Amino acid sequence: MLELKGVSKTFGGVKAVQNVSMTIAPGEVRGLIGPNGAGKSTLVNLISGLLRHSTGTISIHGEGVDKLSAHQRAHLGIARTFQNLRVFGSLTVQQNIDVAGYSGQASHRNGNDILREAIARFDLADKLHAPASSLAYGQLRRLEIVRALALRPRLLMLDEPAAGMNEQETDDLREALSWVRSQSDCAILVIDHDLKFIMALSERITVLNLGAVIANGSPKEVSENRQVIDAYLGEDYEHAA
Ligand SMILES: Nc1ncnc2c1ncn2[C@@H]1O[C@H](COP(=O)(O)OP(=O)(O)OP(=O)(O)O)[C@@H](O)[C@H]1O
Ligand SMILES: [Mg+2]
Repeated sequence: MLELKGVSKTFGGVKAVQNVSMTIAPGEVRGLIGPNGAGKSTLVNLISGLLRHSTGTISIHGEGVDKLSAHQRAHLGIARTFQNLRVFGSLTVQQNIDVAGYSGQASHRNGNDILREAIARFDLADKLHAPASSLAYGQLRRLEIVRALALRPRLLMLDEPAAGMNEQETDDLREALSWVRSQSDCAILVIDHDLKFIMALSERITVLNLGAVIANGSPKEVSENRQVIDAYLGEDYEHAA
């Protein structure tokens, strides 16, 4: 459903993303990992249209989106959350979700039921009328995800959804995302530094280092890959595994 061919992005002299080619199938859960500054968030920004790539092509269901704005790509079903949370603090939880719904694709027949269940699965049902500014950090992260789901995405990109969450919250988040996966053929691209979370959630993992893809495979394959261990996982992880 998503295809990148030779996508690069430079900021001044920094090659943030270098010649990245990858495909994501409908319904696939893909992990995206790599050290700080590897280009993960930049890649999500390029796919969502927040940034323009310097070279290469990005297509969705075979349709090139290179010339489309972020807003137009959202209409095609690309939704994302941000590493630095972006919710409207003065609006209630419900209003934050509603705002997203208006800018998404035409609503599907069972869409509202699924959204209602998503609100429950992401543990926000008793917070709907609270201002978003009153939410705890983990709740804000979950609100961002539910808001993205209100767009009825075909591709949901999550930039460090488990950051700042404790182990229980992270487990609950993984279960809620597995539920999303079971409900639709929405593909999920998820970035996180919590390896236990990402390995348990993802079917395949792409590893970036210095902007380039250095590995792509099952969680087991990438965690045994020498280059990945040297660039990111480290010897301690190798021994623990
Ligand atoms: N808007 C920008 N202007 C200039 N340089 C940028 C910009 N955004 C990112 N970069 C640079 O691009 C590189 C990749 O950054 P990016 O934020 O994509 O990394 P990341 O893999 O998401 O890292 P982290 O795990 O710390 O979130 C870094 O060297 C960063 O400093
Ligand atoms: Mg990042």
